[in-house]
Amino acid sequence: MNRTVVITGTTSGFGRDSVRLFASQGWNVVATVRKETDLAIHDDLPNVKTLLLDVNDEGADTAFAEQAAARFGGIDALVNNAGYYHMGPVEAASMEQIHDQFQTNVFGLMALTKAFLPHFREQRSGVIVNISSISADQGYPYTAVYAASKAAVAAFSEGLNVEMADFGVSVKAVFPGAHATRIFTKIDQAGDIPEDYQSGMQRFFGMQGTGSSPAVTAKAIYQAVTDGRIEQVRYYTGPDGVAVPRVKRLLGADWYWEEFRNAATGNPSDLWKSLVTQGKEPVEFAL
Ligand SMILES: NC(=O)c1ccc[n+]([C@@H]2O[C@H](COP(=O)([O-])OP(=O)(O)OC[C@H]3O[C@@H](n4cnc5c(N)ncnc54)[C@H](OP(=O)(O)O)[C@@H]3O)[C@@H](O)[C@H]2O)c1
Repeated sequence: MNRTVVITGTTSGFGRDSVRLFASQGWNVVATVRKETDLAIHDDLPNVKTLLLDVNDEGADTAFAEQAAARFGGIDALVNNAGYYHMGPVEAASMEQIHDQFQTNVFGLMALTKAFLPHFREQRSGVIVNISSISADQGYPYTAVYAASKAAVAAFSEGLNVEMADFGVSVKAVFPGAHATRIFTKIDQAGDIPEDYQSGMQRFFGMQGTGSSPAVTAKAIYQAVTDGRIEQVRYYTGPDGVAVPRVKRLLGADWYWEEFRNAATGNPSDLWKSLVTQGKEPVEFAL
């Protein structure tokens, strides 16, 4: 029997590419969107059922999990992909923006996960893949709130991986570097940003590469769901996503932090410039 995956946030980016990849590999897919006008976006794929879900609506999760499981007669994997990007200095972010960022990226993800846990525990199998970010590996400036939300996702995934081990359920986190997706056209920007921050922001965002294709991370998500490596939590994707942990392993996390901080404050060393990948070919994951 074909296996079934639930993927949240599938209108574009990693979610959309993941729907297409899983469907092409023979999986049944329950894809979610949050607007009725997007319900038909996967209609060209016969083994994909698209359902409405706003992950902020925690009260809808239990009924959604039941509906999703009924659609193809069971669920084998959940990919918590839905999320957005809050950007700007912490000083300029309103507490409402900070709460909203955590509501979608963290609490919505936790609530949906909780709705599926009884199902996975009772069937003694299942894989949950949560989308974190390379910015969770150490804080990035001017996106500290977003990075903190993704660090919460990473720690949640590691803790839950151990918690569910007795039941044969695997929990993982994907750490993408920068990818060219629609997330950057929908940024929730902090309000009145004091002029003092402008030069630092320009310097930091000038360090960023253009980003790889979302297909790279869709392959990593597919690998995380299917590789059977129940003990592996972390999957890094994209050139910068792969480079950061590699450099930390080679030279130590303390060295990395010092060099990163020097670069972000305008004093990059030559070694830093030669080690940190910008615009190189994305690392491909084998299917
Ligand atoms: N792109 C990157 O560089 C990058 C790097 C690291 C991590 N990530 C993470 O990867 C995930 C996917 O991002 P992406 O880059 O593929 O961006 P994207 O193209 O903007 O896709 C994000 C998806 O999440 C949906 N979404 C947002 N808020 C939602 C909510 N409250 N309820 C349900 N769905 C919601 C969006 O729906 P709408 O179309 O309705 O807005 C969209 O389908 C996010 O968690 C993001 O934080 C991205």
